[in-house]
This record gives sequence, C-alpha cells and structure tokens, in this order.
Amino acid sequence: MSKAVDRLPEGPWDAVWASPGRVNLIGEHTDYNDGYVLPFALPQLTVVGGRRTDGESWTVSSEQTGETVTFGPGEKVEGWAAYVAGIVWALREAGHDVPGASLAIASDVPFGAGLSSSAALGCAVMAVLVDLAGLDVPMEVRPRLAQRAENEYVGAPTGIMDQSASTLCREGHALFLDCRSLATEQVPFDLAAQGLAILVVDSRAPHAHVSGEYAARRRSCEEAAKILDVTALRDVEPAGLEAALARLDDEVMRRRVRHVVTEDQRVLDTVEALRAGDARLIGPLMTASHESMRDDYEITVPEVDTVVSAALAAGAYGARMTGGGFGGCVLALVDAERCEAVEAAVRGAFADAGFAPPDAFVVTPAEGTHKIEP
Ligand code: GLA
Repeated sequence: MSKAVDRLPEGPWDAVWASPGRVNLIGEHTDYNDGYVLPFALPQLTVVGGRRTDGESWTVSSEQTGETVTFGPGEKVEGWAAYVAGIVWALREAGHDVPGASLAIASDVPFGAGLSSSAALGCAVMAVLVDLAGLDVPMEVRPRLAQRAENEYVGAPTGIMDQSASTLCREGHALFLDCRSLATEQVPFDLAAQGLAILVVDSRAPHAHVSGEYAARRRSCEEAAKILDVTALRDVEPAGLEAALARLDDEVMRRRVRHVVTEDQRVLDTVEALRAGDARLIGPLMTASHESMRDDYEITVPEVDTVVSAALAAGAYGARMTGGGFGGCVLALVDAERCEAVEAAVRGAFADAGFAPPDAFVVTPAEGTHKIEP
C-alpha cells in the first residue's frame, strides 16, 4: 500500500503535518505516577492536511473510515472525530483563537495495537491548526494540551507519554522523559551500529477491558500514594520500597506499587546502559519489565506472554509488552540477522497455542511531529 502522505486527498492544503505512532522502550504505567519513560517514534505516520475556512466550524474527513464530520465550537463529538474536536477544544481552552478549517487525515499507524494512533492523530491535528492560525504554541507545551484533549474532552485518563513521544521524539534517539518536570533528554539509540534490531510483534489480541482496567490501575496508584503520604509513587525510592509496602494492607495494591517503583528504576538503568553504549545490556531490563507487568501490574494477556517467551527462547536479548496492555505489541531486542528466526519462532508458538497469526516488523527510531508541506 502507498504511504499515508500519498493517500491524503488532493489539496490544495495550506499546511500538511505528520505525527508518528510510538513504542515505549521501557517505563510502562509510570507516566501518570510522575515517573520516567523512554519511548521512541515509529516511522508510521498520521498525516493531516488543513485549509482555512470562513466561520467557526471544522470539517474533518478520514480516509480510514470514509467519514466526514463537521462540528462547531463547544459541540460534543463522539468516535474518532472526538480526537480532532478535543484538540480544537484544548487550544481554545488555552486561550488560542482557532480559525475554522477543513482537515483530511490519512494514517499508517495501526489502530488499536497500542502504538498510540490517537496521540498521533491529536498531535498532527494540533500542528496543522497551530500553523494555519499562526499561533505561538511551542512544541514543548503541546503534549500537555494534547493530553488535556484526551483526558477531558475524549474522556480517556491517559498520562503524558504518548503525546510527548509523538511530538518530541528525534530520529535515531529514544526520548528520556521525566513526567514530573517534563525535562527531556534525547538518548542516542542506534541499534544497527551494534548489529542489533528491535522487532515489534503485534499480538493482535483484542484490547478487551482496556479502558476500565487502565483507570483502575491509575486509581490504585493514586490511593497508594495517598496512604503513603507522597505526591505520587515516583516519590517512593527503591531503597524504601519494602518499608512502603509494609504500610499497605492490600496485597493487590502492594503489587501495583512494586511494579511502578521498580519500573522507574529500570528506566534509569536502561538510560545508563544506553549512555554507556552497550544496548545488549538493556535486554534483561526489558524482560524484567515484562515480568513485572505480568505478575505485579497484571496487564498482560496470554498472547503477549507467548510472544515474549517464544522470542526469548529463540535468542532475543530481552522482550516486553509495550503500551497500556491487555493486548497490543511486544518489543524484542535481537541480533539483526536473527529477526526472521525470532519471528518464525513466535509464529510457530502462536500456531501451537491456537492464536490468530501475529504481525511483525522491524522498527528504527524515527522523527516526531514534522511539517510536510508547503
Ligand atoms: C497508554 C497511555 C500512556 C501510558 C501507557 C502505559 O499508552 O496513553 O499515557 O500510561 O499506556 O505506559
């Protein structure tokens, strides 16, 4: 199939921008605990073309659904177009004058695979609207606005990782983000130079219950922080973890806290390993992260656990689920020349288990939000 940018309906457009999907190398469910994450952008893009129109209404068409939706200011929109209307809402809430526009969307970011197709859409729409209106909205403040659109307009209680990744990631780098201070560091992540690759396996497991379970995990963390008398679980030091756990009566809550605290430390250890220039060292951290998500945070499903164990058995240095959980994708760190063998092993394990065939592709860290034309 041709690329999203080539499938965008013929303009003329006053502005065309693209925002990528993302994978998270490590640091899962840490963002809404004020912790650390380390995502990188995918080469798969959502591309949005925009044209200014008269009056205060917005029309948006999606090549994926074939639908066109029109909405006015203050109107409540449902479905995929809510991610567009939410951005208009968030910009206006922040005091920006957003002129009417006609928008078209084309996307190569797989939908519902945990690769942040919604953040890619929101960030690309924001880039186009900001450009059309000539607004002064620096890249650094856009993730918060896009997150607000998702949290308050769409009603999805996500953290800030996906919008930050889609906006701020740089080609060849992973984005080390402190979700409290929003400080960022671009960490060089050139696997090819070390003969390595990241294989993404989309388990294609249906994302059942994901939103309810996500909200429940988030609530549990917030309750635990209250009991422990800290602003967020980020404030529990690994050295104080056992003492903190001893103060919690609920066994499930203890497991949730252990995941978050150990996961934050694994992000820091991963960044250290990458700075030291040996990417193989991050393999065991990835696998430990997966085990923590499986046993303590309880957000994996049999399909993703099967991908991880089959990849490791076939020689991956490490493997873990990425994203919110309950399905979605696994990242496996492999010798570049072993990609096909690892993929074949996973396919074999899926066939044996009676699961529908997975999808697999190799990724390299790509560029965040960028202008395509004019
Ligand atoms: C989803 C959310 C993110 C983050 C991840 C889990 O992708 O949108 O904010 O919480 O789950 O790490």
